[in-house]
Amino acid sequence: MIKLNTISFSYKEFESFEELNEGDRELILAAREAANKGYAPYSGFRVGAATRLESGIIVCGANIENAAFPSGICAERSSLANSVSNHHNDKPVAMAISALTKDGITNYPVTPCGNCRQVIAEEESRTGNQIRIILSGISKTLVIEGISNLLPLQFNKEDLKVNLP
Ligand code: THU
Repeated sequence: MIKLNTISFSYKEFESFEELNEGDRELILAAREAANKGYAPYSGFRVGAATRLESGIIVCGANIENAAFPSGICAERSSLANSVSNHHNDKPVAMAISALTKDGITNYPVTPCGNCRQVIAEEESRTGNQIRIILSGISKTLVIEGISNLLPLQFNKEDLKVNLP
């Protein structure tokens, strides 16, 4: 018998920066600042990600491109590489993402690529904490409670049947 399953996901949409709570606004400003530090000579598309940890610390990352294209890294993974390396036991609770082109911060919110979604999912499963993902453009901000809303049916350690400590 064929069963038709439906997965639903949800996110909040904010049309003005002022409607967002103070913590989210602070994180977005940190992501915008991080985008300034992006190294994107090939795409001209600089991205910043700011991750808030449980302790309140904000850890930023920017995209870093490479002449050998696949060697580059996105802002989201750059930020998580920074937080896992330097604040290993401090769990991420939120991440804001912002992109910058020659015309300034993008009007529309930029969503994480597939690789970054997978890495964010791994971080949620490593820490057992859901991450609030804040996708910010000038005219619109999307707030997504947890990566399962961006990456349904995800592959994770349960699929490997690995017993981790
Ligand atoms: N990029 C990010 O850093 N994060 C995203 O969410 C989307 C894409 C980067 C990768 C590459 O350096 C540039 O943006 C253009 O794709």
